[in-house]
Amino acid sequence: MAPRIVDVKELTTAQRADAARILREALAHMPSAYNEPGEAEAEVQTFLDDPERAALAAVDGEVVLGWIGVIESYSHAWELHPLVVDPAHQRRGVGAALTAALEARVKAQGVLTLYLGTDDDYGGTNLFGQALFPDVAGKIATLRSTGDHASGFYRRLGYEVVGLIPDANGPGRPDIMMAKRL
Ligand SMILES: CC(C)(COP(=O)(O)OP(=O)(O)OC[C@H]1O[C@@H](n2cnc3c(N)ncnc32)[C@H](O)[C@@H]1OP(=O)(O)O)[C@@H](O)C(=O)NCCC(=O)NCCS
Repeated sequence: MAPRIVDVKELTTAQRADAARILREALAHMPSAYNEPGEAEAEVQTFLDDPERAALAAVDGEVVLGWIGVIESYSHAWELHPLVVDPAHQRRGVGAALTAALEARVKAQGVLTLYLGTDDDYGGTNLFGQALFPDVAGKIATLRSTGDHASGFYRRLGYEVVGLIPDANGPGRPDIMMAKRL
Protein backbone atom coordinates (compact mmCIF):
# COMPACT_ATOMS: atom_id res chain seq x y z
CA MET A 1 0.00 0.00 0.00
CA ALA A 2 1.27 3.51 -0.79
CA PRO A 3 2.50 5.41 2.28
CA ARG A 4 0.57 8.35 3.65
CA ILE A 5 2.34 11.68 3.01
CA VAL A 6 1.92 14.20 5.83
CA ASP A 7 3.42 17.53 6.84
CA VAL A 8 6.21 17.00 9.43
CA LYS A 9 4.33 19.41 11.67
CA GLU A 10 1.72 16.65 12.09
CA LEU A 11 4.27 14.15 13.42
CA THR A 12 4.32 13.19 17.09
CA THR A 13 7.41 13.87 19.21
CA ALA A 14 8.43 10.22 18.88
CA GLN A 15 7.98 10.32 15.10
CA ARG A 16 10.09 13.49 14.89
CA ALA A 17 12.83 11.71 16.82
CA ASP A 18 12.57 8.90 14.30
CA ALA A 19 12.88 11.40 11.44
CA ALA A 20 16.19 12.53 13.01
CA ARG A 21 17.37 8.92 13.32
CA ILE A 22 16.54 8.33 9.66
CA LEU A 23 18.50 11.45 8.66
CA ARG A 24 21.51 10.13 10.56
CA GLU A 25 21.28 6.53 9.34
CA ALA A 26 20.43 7.18 5.69
CA LEU A 27 23.46 9.45 5.33
CA ALA A 28 25.81 7.36 7.48
CA HIS A 29 27.97 6.55 4.42
CA MET A 30 28.83 10.22 3.97
CA PRO A 31 31.53 11.93 6.06
CA SER A 32 29.47 15.14 5.91
CA ALA A 33 26.52 13.40 7.61
CA TYR A 34 24.72 14.50 10.77
CA ASN A 35 27.04 12.68 13.18
CA GLU A 36 27.42 15.17 16.03
CA PRO A 37 25.13 14.58 19.03
CA GLY A 38 21.86 16.45 18.52
CA GLU A 39 22.79 17.59 15.00
CA ALA A 40 20.11 15.58 13.19
CA GLU A 41 17.48 16.56 15.76
CA ALA A 42 18.39 20.24 15.29
CA GLU A 43 18.09 19.88 11.51
CA VAL A 44 14.59 18.35 11.81
CA GLN A 45 13.61 21.20 14.16
CA THR A 46 14.55 23.84 11.54
CA PHE A 47 11.76 22.46 9.34
CA LEU A 48 9.28 23.11 12.15
CA ASP A 49 10.56 26.55 13.12
CA ASP A 50 11.90 28.30 10.01
CA PRO A 51 9.10 29.91 7.94
CA GLU A 52 11.24 29.49 4.79
CA ARG A 53 11.44 25.72 5.27
CA ALA A 54 8.83 22.97 4.94
CA ALA A 55 8.93 19.19 4.99
CA LEU A 56 6.78 16.15 4.25
CA ALA A 57 7.05 12.69 5.77
CA ALA A 58 5.98 9.28 4.43
CA VAL A 59 4.16 7.33 7.12
CA ASP A 60 2.91 3.73 7.20
CA GLY A 61 0.59 3.40 10.20
CA GLU A 62 2.67 5.05 12.94
CA VAL A 63 6.02 4.25 11.30
CA VAL A 64 8.00 7.03 9.61
CA LEU A 65 9.53 5.65 6.40
CA GLY A 66 11.34 8.78 5.21
CA TRP A 67 11.04 12.51 4.76
CA ILE A 68 11.81 15.34 2.37
CA GLY A 69 12.40 19.04 2.93
CA VAL A 70 12.39 22.20 0.86
CA ILE A 71 14.04 25.58 1.42
CA GLU A 72 12.68 28.77 -0.16
CA SER A 73 15.88 30.16 -1.63
CA TYR A 74 15.16 32.10 -4.86
CA SER A 75 11.77 33.56 -5.75
CA HIS A 76 10.98 30.78 -8.27
CA ALA A 77 13.64 28.12 -7.64
CA TRP A 78 13.59 26.32 -4.31
CA GLU A 79 16.08 23.85 -2.91
CA LEU A 80 15.13 20.24 -2.18
CA HIS A 81 16.93 19.40 1.08
CA PRO A 82 17.12 16.84 2.52
CA LEU A 83 15.62 13.59 1.17
CA VAL A 84 16.15 10.51 3.31
CA VAL A 85 14.44 7.12 3.37
CA ASP A 86 14.99 4.70 6.24
CA PRO A 87 17.58 2.17 4.98
CA ALA A 88 15.15 -0.61 5.97
CA HIS A 89 12.54 0.80 3.57
CA GLN A 90 14.61 1.93 0.58
CA ARG A 91 13.92 0.85 -3.01
CA ARG A 92 10.17 0.49 -2.43
CA GLY A 93 9.05 3.73 -4.03
CA VAL A 94 9.08 5.87 -0.86
CA GLY A 95 11.69 8.35 -2.17
CA ALA A 96 9.84 8.73 -5.47
CA ALA A 97 6.50 9.24 -3.67
CA LEU A 98 7.97 11.90 -1.36
CA THR A 99 9.59 13.73 -4.27
CA ALA A 100 6.38 13.68 -6.34
CA ALA A 101 4.39 15.03 -3.38
CA LEU A 102 6.89 17.83 -2.77
CA GLU A 103 7.02 18.75 -6.46
CA ALA A 104 3.22 18.99 -6.62
CA ARG A 105 3.08 21.08 -3.47
CA VAL A 106 5.70 23.65 -4.49
CA LYS A 107 4.48 23.79 -8.09
CA ALA A 108 1.09 24.83 -6.72
CA GLN A 109 2.93 27.62 -4.86
CA GLY A 110 4.34 28.97 -8.14
CA VAL A 111 7.81 27.42 -8.04
CA LEU A 112 9.26 26.79 -11.51
CA THR A 113 12.48 24.94 -10.68
CA LEU A 114 13.36 22.52 -7.91
CA TYR A 115 17.10 22.03 -7.43
CA LEU A 116 19.40 20.15 -5.07
CA GLY A 117 23.00 19.38 -4.29
CA THR A 118 23.95 15.73 -4.03
CA ASP A 119 27.44 15.48 -2.60
CA ASP A 120 29.97 12.93 -3.64
CA ASP A 121 32.21 12.87 -0.60
CA TYR A 122 32.56 9.07 -0.49
CA GLY A 123 33.34 7.89 -4.04
CA GLY A 124 29.86 7.33 -5.49
CA THR A 125 30.65 8.79 -8.93
CA ASN A 126 33.48 8.83 -11.45
CA LEU A 127 34.21 12.47 -10.54
CA PHE A 128 35.29 11.63 -6.99
CA GLY A 129 38.98 12.32 -6.54
CA GLN A 130 39.22 14.20 -9.85
CA ALA A 131 40.49 17.73 -10.48
CA LEU A 132 37.44 19.49 -11.96
CA PHE A 133 39.12 22.81 -12.85
CA PRO A 134 39.64 23.88 -15.61
CA ASP A 135 36.51 23.33 -17.74
CA VAL A 136 34.17 22.33 -14.91
CA ALA A 137 31.20 22.51 -17.30
CA GLY A 138 32.86 19.99 -19.61
CA LYS A 139 33.00 17.45 -16.77
CA ILE A 140 29.22 17.53 -16.31
CA ALA A 141 28.63 15.46 -19.44
CA THR A 142 30.99 12.76 -18.21
CA LEU A 143 29.35 12.29 -14.79
CA ARG A 144 28.12 8.80 -13.98
CA SER A 145 27.28 6.95 -10.81
CA THR A 146 29.69 4.14 -10.01
CA GLY A 147 27.30 2.47 -7.57
CA ASP A 148 24.16 3.67 -5.89
CA HIS A 149 24.92 7.40 -5.71
CA ALA A 150 21.69 9.39 -5.33
CA SER A 151 22.32 11.20 -8.66
CA GLY A 152 21.06 7.99 -10.35
CA PHE A 153 17.81 8.21 -8.41
CA TYR A 154 17.29 11.88 -9.26
CA ARG A 155 18.04 11.30 -12.96
CA ARG A 156 15.29 8.66 -13.01
CA LEU A 157 12.91 11.27 -11.64
CA GLY A 158 13.76 13.77 -14.37
CA TYR A 159 16.45 15.88 -12.69
CA GLU A 160 19.50 16.85 -14.74
CA VAL A 161 22.96 17.88 -13.68
CA VAL A 162 23.26 21.67 -13.92
CA GLY A 163 26.56 22.24 -12.16
CA LEU A 164 29.45 21.02 -10.08
CA ILE A 165 30.98 22.65 -7.02
CA PRO A 166 34.58 21.42 -7.13
CA ASP A 167 36.15 20.39 -3.81
CA ALA A 168 32.99 21.38 -1.90
CA ASN A 169 33.70 18.81 0.81
CA GLY A 170 37.50 18.74 0.51
CA PRO A 171 39.89 17.98 -2.35
CA GLY A 172 38.24 15.75 -4.97
CA ARG A 173 34.89 15.75 -3.14
CA PRO A 174 32.43 17.77 -5.22
CA ASP A 175 28.84 18.72 -4.76
CA ILE A 176 26.70 17.83 -7.77
CA MET A 177 23.93 20.30 -8.51
CA MET A 178 20.78 18.93 -10.16
CA ALA A 179 17.52 20.60 -11.13
CA LYS A 180 14.12 19.88 -12.64
CA ARG A 181 11.58 22.09 -14.33
CA LEU A 182 8.22 21.61 -12.59
C1 LIG B 1 18.17 8.13 -2.63
C2 LIG B 1 16.92 7.69 -1.86
C3 LIG B 1 16.21 8.92 -1.31
C4 LIG B 1 15.98 6.94 -2.84
O1 LIG B 1 14.79 6.57 -2.15
P1 LIG B 1 14.13 5.12 -2.36
O2 LIG B 1 12.84 5.09 -1.64
O3 LIG B 1 15.14 4.09 -2.00
O4 LIG B 1 13.94 5.11 -3.95
P2 LIG B 1 12.65 4.62 -4.78
O5 LIG B 1 12.35 3.20 -4.40
O6 LIG B 1 11.55 5.60 -4.66
O7 LIG B 1 13.26 4.65 -6.26
C5 LIG B 1 12.62 5.26 -7.38
C6 LIG B 1 13.35 4.80 -8.64
O8 LIG B 1 14.74 5.19 -8.56
C7 LIG B 1 15.58 4.02 -8.60
N1 LIG B 1 16.66 4.25 -7.63
C8 LIG B 1 16.56 4.34 -6.29
N2 LIG B 1 17.76 4.60 -5.73
C9 LIG B 1 18.63 4.67 -6.77
C10 LIG B 1 20.03 4.94 -6.83
N3 LIG B 1 20.74 5.18 -5.74
N4 LIG B 1 20.61 4.95 -8.06
C11 LIG B 1 19.88 4.72 -9.19
N5 LIG B 1 18.54 4.49 -9.19
C12 LIG B 1 17.94 4.46 -7.98
C13 LIG B 1 14.70 2.87 -8.18
O9 LIG B 1 15.18 1.66 -8.69
C14 LIG B 1 13.37 3.28 -8.79
O10 LIG B 1 13.39 3.00 -10.16
P3 LIG B 1 12.07 2.46 -10.92
O11 LIG B 1 11.09 3.58 -10.84
O12 LIG B 1 12.54 2.18 -12.28
O13 LIG B 1 11.63 1.27 -10.14
C15 LIG B 1 17.27 6.71 -0.72
O14 LIG B 1 17.98 5.60 -1.23
C16 LIG B 1 18.09 7.33 0.40
O15 LIG B 1 17.55 7.84 1.38
N6 LIG B 1 19.44 7.26 0.27
C17 LIG B 1 20.34 7.75 1.28
C18 LIG B 1 20.24 9.24 1.47
C19 LIG B 1 20.57 10.02 0.21
O16 LIG B 1 21.51 9.73 -0.50
N7 LIG B 1 19.72 11.03 -0.03
C20 LIG B 1 19.91 11.94 -1.13
C21 LIG B 1 20.89 12.96 -0.70
S1 LIG B 1 20.97 14.26 -1.89
